[in-house]
Amino acid sequence: MTEKWAVVTGAGNGIGTVIARSAAKLGYRIAAWDVNAAGVEELAAELGDICVPRQVDVVDEASVEGAVASLPDAPALLVNSAGIVRFGPLLDVSLADWEQALRVNLTGTFLVGRTVARRMATVGGGAIINIASVNGVAAAPNAGAYSASKAGVIRLTEHQAMEWASLGIRVNCVAPGLIDAGMSDAIYADPEVRRLRQARVPLGRLGSSEDIADTVLFLASEKATYITGQVLAVDGGLLKSTLASLPRPKSVDSVGPDDDSLA
Ligand SMILES: NC(=O)c1ccc[n+]([C@@H]2O[C@H](COP(=O)([O-])OP(=O)(O)OC[C@H]3O[C@@H](n4cnc5c(N)ncnc54)[C@H](O)[C@@H]3O)[C@@H](O)[C@H]2O)c1
Repeated sequence: MTEKWAVVTGAGNGIGTVIARSAAKLGYRIAAWDVNAAGVEELAAELGDICVPRQVDVVDEASVEGAVASLPDAPALLVNSAGIVRFGPLLDVSLADWEQALRVNLTGTFLVGRTVARRMATVGGGAIINIASVNGVAAAPNAGAYSASKAGVIRLTEHQAMEWASLGIRVNCVAPGLIDAGMSDAIYADPEVRRLRQARVPLGRLGSSEDIADTVLFLASEKATYITGQVLAVDGGLLKSTLASLPRPKSVDSVGPDDDSLA
């Protein structure tokens, strides 16, 4: 019987680990890929035989091709969660940091996507979910390299979805907001930053890795077979709240004519 494989990149830490765990609970066999071998080995020790860990560098073509060739079946699901962040103002950011962010986040997503999609195409399709960020949608200071790479992931998703629809491959993108996990651990270790940031989220809390995993698995599921090429922000309303904090004149807080005109 063909097994249902899910490839999860960046499975060695943070959001990727939780996505892999959640997929395992749904019966997927997990190909847990990360440049950090210890991270995926730890996950495999936890999940047992259903998880096959592998050290994979998502920007190394030979590494990615070897990993895809090692899978006994074409994967039903690919989640591109591997990513890095490089902060710095655009006047100062080094070329090395700029290129590294673009390379891992955008080129890595392209390379793994292309290699896995070729294999999916041989069995009539599958689902791919690319992890972007709210930073790929809205600008913020000192995050230019990261934001540009994630904006690229969103546009790449749209092109993959268009080109691969006829192969039976659906491609969607999840844009996490302020997530209390992984690469943001250092940010939210400061209780004041935590308090101030969550106060700006309309739903009043930071997001969790489980919030992201649930959305990824919905997009991968039978409930989402008519969805492709979309970017879904999982951000507690953050991206839609740009105008919410603007001061408002009293007149726009009442509906219809004022009381005097009703008299
Ligand atoms: N945590 C957040 O607040 C947040 C918010 C928005 C988006 N995201 C995105 O979610 C994804 C997961 O982030 P996270 O918070 O879990 O980060 P994380 O740093 O905890 O995990 C990222 C994983 O990717 C791996 N990785 C890095 N470069 C790699 C490479 N070249 N090849 C293979 N693996 C590589 C790392 O070793 C690490 O295990 C990333 O794409 C990130 O940009 C995170």
